[in-house]
Amino acid sequence: MTDVILTMRDIVKEFSGVRALDGVSLEVRRGEVHGICGENGAGKSTLMKVLSGVYPHGTFEGSIEFDGSPVEFRSINDSEDAGIVIIHQELALSPYLSIAENIFLGNERASRGVIDWHDTHEQAQALLDRVGLKDDADTPIMHLGVGKQQLVEIAKALSKDVKLLILDEPTAALNDDDSAHLLDLLRGLREHGITSIIISHKLSEIRSISDSITVIRDGETVDDFRMTDKDNTEQRMIRSMVGRPLDNLYPPREPHIGDEVFRVEDWTAYHPVDTSRKVVDGASFTVRAGEIVGFAGLMGAGRTELAMSLFGRQYGKHISGSVFHHGKPVSTRTVEEAIGNGIAYVTEDRKRYGLNLIASVAANITGANLHAVSKYGVIDLHDENDVAERFRTALNIKTDTVSRVVGTLSGGNQQKVVLSKWLHTSPDVLILDEPTRGVDVGAKYEIYGIINDLAAQGKAVVMISSELPELLGMCDRIYTIAEGRITGDVLREDATQERLMQLMTVGEN
Ligand SMILES: Nc1ncnc2c1ncn2[C@@H]1O[C@H](COP(=O)(O)OP(=O)(O)OP(=O)(O)O)[C@@H](O)[C@H]1O
Ligand SMILES: [Mg+2]
Repeated sequence: MTDVILTMRDIVKEFSGVRALDGVSLEVRRGEVHGICGENGAGKSTLMKVLSGVYPHGTFEGSIEFDGSPVEFRSINDSEDAGIVIIHQELALSPYLSIAENIFLGNERASRGVIDWHDTHEQAQALLDRVGLKDDADTPIMHLGVGKQQLVEIAKALSKDVKLLILDEPTAALNDDDSAHLLDLLRGLREHGITSIIISHKLSEIRSISDSITVIRDGETVDDFRMTDKDNTEQRMIRSMVGRPLDNLYPPREPHIGDEVFRVEDWTAYHPVDTSRKVVDGASFTVRAGEIVGFAGLMGAGRTELAMSLFGRQYGKHISGSVFHHGKPVSTRTVEEAIGNGIAYVTEDRKRYGLNLIASVAANITGANLHAVSKYGVIDLHDENDVAERFRTALNIKTDTVSRVVGTLSGGNQQKVVLSKWLHTSPDVLILDEPTRGVDVGAKYEIYGIINDLAAQGKAVVMISSELPELLGMCDRIYTIAEGRITGDVLREDATQERLMQLMTVGEN
């Protein structure tokens, strides 16, 4: 056995004229965790799709050797048979099936053609234990947030005989605690000889877990080093990724805070299925013009539930409480009403709520405010195009044309399209749920700049984030939330990670 498990050489992949990969090479040692990083659109996901047979042999140039011999995968099944399992960036579980059904989908526990539900359930529960998910294996996927879905994906991977596990941004949706849990899980797998490749925009995390790191830029390998090398710094990674050093992670801003724009009083919502459980419990908060207000909380604390129940009651049952816009009570009962009252909610889950992946960039951007680009009820494609071009320039969306299908953009650029879509509704109050999830360091800086501009225009900005440094870097004030209740209201100058963590875990043991 050699010490190298995977060699990809000079991989070139084109999509109708777009050269996504331009001669990438990658070597992964057996039993290691290998990190891959690079800007949005650098080609990371494409490279992993080439490796796993999503793009079959013959649709790209270059060669792949796995486990000692050349391989020519024609499908995902081929690569899985060889022991390669990929967990994609955009999760792909079936929402209506249970956790257990999803884990064994296509790999059913059956004897003589009959699915053994008892065995399915038992084995699924054991796998859930392994990944540390406490939910029952019979729970439908649609009742799980993205963080928990990620753990189900990993449980699913472990149900197969995996030699190389590929994780494309596995922790993007997870908070610090859950990310740490996942990284420990990877370390455990490494001890059992499983090699993994991890793609992440969280540089500190990739540095803490990886044995080796490859940096990709514009479809080429630009750097490759081991963590035991002398020069293994974060600065080196950023320089390789961005092509230049980046001194500041957060753009400077001078806040000008005005009058109250948005106030929520005693907001309560119950779980849509488990209707006796309060997911939001008497939450009250305010946001003023020009103010950026953060919401910090652990996974499942109720941040997204609060936002979604407010915005057109998209989540929860028996919702009660009042909403005030410029001091006047308003209804946010439907999404239309919420938008009509100047509120926009930028979702954390791009795929489920944020974008129509098979429509064009332009159609997505104008999708929440069609009347602005319509005449006599008909969409004016020329106007639609102009609007889309304006946002493409303003937010620096990387796409050759705004008529491109959104699903083919890189993750970070999809996020900018979601942002554009809600900015186009000209909101007064902008609720951003994990706005930089899966976004590279350079583009994060650009998005922070956009958020700062919005605040400077006098908008009230709410920012939900799992990354405390991001909240500390951006917000004027931070609310903490635990078990559906607001447990703290901390000014930026009084906020520290420790203080926030303390308030986020109030009431927990
Ligand atoms: N199916 C497709 N059709 C056309 N272009 C595509 C397709 N898939 C990817 N691309 C393009 O290939 C390039 C690489 O995309 P890829 O998704 O691999 O980037 P990435 O490094 O994973 O980015 P991110 O960090 O945002 O996930 C991008 O320019 C993207 O727009
Ligand atoms: Mg990607």
